[in-house]
Amino acid sequence: MTTEPIVAALDIGTAYTTAIVAAVHGDLPRAPRLKVLGVGSSRTMGLRRGAVSDIEEATRSIRAAVEEACRVSGVQPDSLYVGIAGEHVRAMCSAGVVAISGDEITRADVDRVNEVARAMAIPQDRELLHAIPQEYRVDKADGIRDPVGMIGTRLETEMYLVTIGSAPAMNLRKAIEKAGYKTRELVLEPLASALAVLTEEEKELGVILVELGAGTTDLAIFHEGKIRHLGTIPYGGNTVTSDLVQGLGITQHDAEQLKEAYGCAYEPMVDPDQVIAMPATSAHAERHLSRELMTHIIHQRMDEIFEKVQREVRTAGYVGRLNAGIVLTGGGASLEGVTELATDVFGLGARVGVPGEKLDGLAETVAAPQFATVTGLALYGAHRTALGGVIARRPSLSGAGVDKLATRVKTWLQDFF
Ligand SMILES: Nc1ncnc2c1ncn2[C@@H]1O[C@H](COP(=O)(O)OP(=O)(O)OP(=O)(O)O)[C@@H](O)[C@H]1O
Ligand SMILES: [Mg+2]
Repeated sequence: MTTEPIVAALDIGTAYTTAIVAAVHGDLPRAPRLKVLGVGSSRTMGLRRGAVSDIEEATRSIRAAVEEACRVSGVQPDSLYVGIAGEHVRAMCSAGVVAISGDEITRADVDRVNEVARAMAIPQDRELLHAIPQEYRVDKADGIRDPVGMIGTRLETEMYLVTIGSAPAMNLRKAIEKAGYKTRELVLEPLASALAVLTEEEKELGVILVELGAGTTDLAIFHEGKIRHLGTIPYGGNTVTSDLVQGLGITQHDAEQLKEAYGCAYEPMVDPDQVIAMPATSAHAERHLSRELMTHIIHQRMDEIFEKVQREVRTAGYVGRLNAGIVLTGGGASLEGVTELATDVFGLGARVGVPGEKLDGLAETVAAPQFATVTGLALYGAHRTALGGVIARRPSLSGAGVDKLATRVKTWLQDFF
């Protein structure tokens, strides 16, 4: 039995529900690492476009994935860090201004201005998920990361707020509760994935994370170290599979299998003469498919998806500013030729993002792009746990001392995304 703190995370995707149980270790609280103890997954049922559509079915998928992760790890976590995504997610910028009365700007002033920006009115049917400070302005000087200690009379902040629909969030929590678990915290899926696969340097230089899921393609743009833009394209791996069903006249099941075994997203990479033999079934004699035709279909759809992503980059004003290029995650990033196509469409370097940094234990179990989200959720939990531990272990500190620690904790949390 380990005495290290345990974190557990759950990613309920359109295709797969994945859970991970891990121990937090490493240099705490600054640089926590995850020792992966167990991973479980199940086919997702009862979810439509990112929202629970059938609680009973969703509950079963959750239970199957988490129970497997617990069985492998031999640990029973009491609560889960859970990913959330979908059409109901909105992001916006909110500004705050305060006057500075003292000689120099203090941590309390920074907290005050962040509070002002965060206190934006949230509609009744929505809840605030993340409030991420971006940068500060002191009088006329902008682009300041940490204004503490600076001289000024007026402090402004720009905050990135992410809100979610209350109903989808409530249904998600309910399904988890019915499965027998507690929701520790909800975290936006693409932000979790970013934690698992992006380097600090990439976020600094400018990078776009493109998560090729089954139901949707999610994107997150980072620049100068901070999240700048989030977006969702309503197409994903399921769309590609449907195209193959229609274009090749095969079943959904065959299309999925063929795509995973022989799929390619970039036509120039495929030998035009290559033929794929499909074994005979009771309904069909043996059939031969042209791999070029199959690639053509996949290429067309992936090209359309990337074009839509490119349009978002343009609208958000980040063309020419993503010097670290593109990082692809999600199951679709396993598709052959996907980085080549991305490079072609965006004119930028592309790589596949695979969790691995800060991971020990059964790290190979999650070393594939479809595990970016669940791993990132657990890493988020590890940071939270590590920071929480600092306070919990020092209950004897005086009031002022605890305050100082608490604000330091806040500062570090801001560095997450
Ligand atoms: N080797 C592969 N080649 C092509 N596609 C693949 C491969 N492996 C998985 N996929 C596709 O990836 C998708 C599943 O990815 P992932 O698990 O990231 O999605 P999800 O999280 O369930 O969905 P979402 O994030 O959209 O809710 C499926 O559409 C699947 O067909
Ligand atoms: Mg996903």
